[in-house]
Amino acid sequence: MKTALRNALIVASLFVTTASGGLLAGRALADTSPARQPAALQADGLFWETFHSGDYAKIQASLEASTAAYLRNPNDAVTAAHVGWLHMWRLSEHNRLDQTPASITDDAVLARKYFQKAVDLAPDDARFRGFLASAILAEAQIDRDAALRDQGAAIMQQAVKDWPAFNLFTAGYVASNQPADSDSFKRALDQQWQNLEVCAHTTLDRHGGNLDQLSNVMFKASTGSRDARACLNSSIAPHNEEGFLLNMGDMLTKSGDWQTAQKVYALAKRSPDYASWPYRDVLERRIHDAQANVAALNAAPTPGQKPTTPMMLSSSYSCMACHQH
Ligand code: HEC
Repeated sequence: MKTALRNALIVASLFVTTASGGLLAGRALADTSPARQPAALQADGLFWETFHSGDYAKIQASLEASTAAYLRNPNDAVTAAHVGWLHMWRLSEHNRLDQTPASITDDAVLARKYFQKAVDLAPDDARFRGFLASAILAEAQIDRDAALRDQGAAIMQQAVKDWPAFNLFTAGYVASNQPADSDSFKRALDQQWQNLEVCAHTTLDRHGGNLDQLSNVMFKASTGSRDARACLNSSIAPHNEEGFLLNMGDMLTKSGDWQTAQKVYALAKRSPDYASWPYRDVLERRIHDAQANVAALNAAPTPGQKPTTPMMLSSSYSCMACHQH
């Protein structure tokens, strides 16, 4: 990819040189330089501080810094992706707000714009493609636009192919708000099983019959590989395992199989970082209330009212369950 990008830049700068002379060519080179600019590095700092502390109220300030860095250099894929992620986070955890403004849906449009840019600049980053697909699917849901939904689904399919251990989760997670008896929900739940299978290099019984065996090898098989970043806890996603299992338990509960849900939730307690996870109480309540939550997680939303027990996807911790330090 880097070579391809560099070649493209060389071609572009040659073209500009021929067409408009040296000055413009010089500027084009500076703008597209792979070296990150100081403003971008500074914006990165604020991004990580805001994100890892779960400081939702600071999203706007962080967006200002990252967007300003983007305006200085719109060819920096990391900066473009950070702007996209901040919009996604604000949209995704809007349940934190007392009142959600209608215009929060604009975050989906903007997330799509910036992830499209990030994908164009760094087509090899499967995470950017997965988030681009998520933003498109969110927008399609907002607009009830079937053609856009198909477009998002096709990009998601490619993202899953590019990096199954990361994007099987993504694909299934964003479909977890579909009705439990729909094909898309059933596929989404199976994608969570497949994700565990990819991470643990094993085959799993869909009712948790061999989960005990999983917990012994769980997430160990992939240590040191690219998949380790998607399967294990890391500094970027310090509670990835716990968050993954919380969502999967929610999806199983919603499907009606609360007994298997309890087993899957309980696996999170085996994470080496469970004791420092800020959402332990949520998980333990979910295990306790699993049977009653079958109805709660299937309840139709009341407009203008927050659900008392939302699916992880619609909760105030839909990103922070994995990412909060
Ligand atoms: C199930 C856990 C989980 C959930 C939920 C989750 N993520 Fe992630 N996220 C990860 C993992 C794992 C990575 C990959 C880390 C890597 O590439 O090393 C990641 C990567 C990222 C990165 C990339 C950081 C970088 O530059 O390397 C950002 C930013 C991010 N996620 C934002 C979000 C946002 C915003 C949400 C909510 C809409 C979210 N995530 C939901 C697990 C999760």
